[in-house]
Amino acid sequence: MSMTTATQPTAECTGANDQALTSAHPPQVSLSARGVTAGGIATRHISDLPRGIHINPAAITHPLALARYQTPMRYPGAKTGLSPVIGMLLTAASQHRTVGSIDLLVEPFAGGASTSLRLVGDSTVQRVLLADADPLVAAFWQVAAAETDALITRMRAEHEQYVAPGAAGAVKRWDYWRAWSPPPGIRPSIARFETAVKCLYLNRTTFSGILHGRAGPIGGRAQTSAYGIGCRYSPDGLADRIAYVGHLYATGRLIDVWCMDWRDTLDNTASVYKTLVPDHVVAYLDPPYLRKSAKLYNTSFEEVARAPRTVPAPAGWPNTLAHEQLAHYLTHKMRYRWLLSYDYDSDLLASCLLYGRNRMNPAASDRADGVKSWRISKRVVRLTYTAAARSSRNGANELFLTTLPSAIVPANDSIRSLDRLDDSARS
Ligand SMILES: C[S@@+](CC[C@H](N)C(=O)[O-])C[C@H]1O[C@@H](n2cnc3c(N)ncnc32)[C@H](O)[C@@H]1O
Repeated sequence: MSMTTATQPTAECTGANDQALTSAHPPQVSLSARGVTAGGIATRHISDLPRGIHINPAAITHPLALARYQTPMRYPGAKTGLSPVIGMLLTAASQHRTVGSIDLLVEPFAGGASTSLRLVGDSTVQRVLLADADPLVAAFWQVAAAETDALITRMRAEHEQYVAPGAAGAVKRWDYWRAWSPPPGIRPSIARFETAVKCLYLNRTTFSGILHGRAGPIGGRAQTSAYGIGCRYSPDGLADRIAYVGHLYATGRLIDVWCMDWRDTLDNTASVYKTLVPDHVVAYLDPPYLRKSAKLYNTSFEEVARAPRTVPAPAGWPNTLAHEQLAHYLTHKMRYRWLLSYDYDSDLLASCLLYGRNRMNPAASDRADGVKSWRISKRVVRLTYTAAARSSRNGANELFLTTLPSAIVPANDSIRSLDRLDDSARS
């Protein structure tokens, strides 16, 4: 396989670009006290206020802590294959003099949360904080954490009454949950619980776990396939996985679950857990795909308000703006270190409005506020599975960027530097 030089930034990253970005971009989508969309409701935090940290969280004793599969969610684009790489980097970082122990890993695009569940289970990090803007997803994690037994009981009841008998009754229940939204006057706690049940039912019975309205039930509406609607709904396995989430919450290892936009999560983490900033908090960000996220997620970057562009969007990108806003925040405003993964796209590295620069570039006022100018290491990791546009039978290339100390970010066969990228990834 021929190795060639990957696309490098084509333009000097100047302050002028930064200015254009900040002034032209609209404010971020901001979810109010409660996340309410997509037929569901979640609270901003599990309780009224964000949960503080246990200084000495209890030991994790659940048998799933080191298991291969831990998340109760099937998630399109789950980055299971990246977790070992992230774990290796975080372990190395925690031995580096400028970082020390990772007391908190924040996942603002939590989805199926497979990375957080794994890295807290094997003690790579002390604690995790999950957040997602999709109320369905956030409500699920909130209820799994804090109302664990009730959710397990209900999950089993849904299985016994609807999923196990299969056929038309299970599809009818699928239609019910698809159409369900909290009725007026419902108590918020009940609305959140029912939203969690909706999320779980649809996630386990919909094609590929896709929560979006266009995906149908597993096995089709007629249920003539060999794989029926219940083939991914195993009540005992799900009960174990939900119990694992409850155990993490009870031990203080899963601090909280927030329903909010990524920017609020990153800002609020810095203010709520300020004693851990900057050295003992790391964010892992796995944003929606560049091109087809609206088909996969209820909440995608494609919904963010549009504004007149100052530079043309790369061809085929439905909403570059939202990706640029994230890039701008991470490279100019972020107060703690971050790891970011994207399905590989050379446009991400070509634009200074995205990740063209090799270093964070905070304004003087942000620097005075403590934002550092960390170096951005850029690597490519080959994954064997992804729903990304570039997936193939052989796997897909994941772009992996981080501000962890560059000395601990290796370049080898499994985590490749950009100049060792094969041609297929660059097309
Ligand atoms: C690629 S998925 C994350 C998958 C996850 N890493 C896993 O392993 O399952 C992206 C997630 O971001 C969420 N999301 C989309 N827009 C968001 C926003 N503006 N703020 C926070 N979360 C958002 C989606 O609901 C989705 O769960």
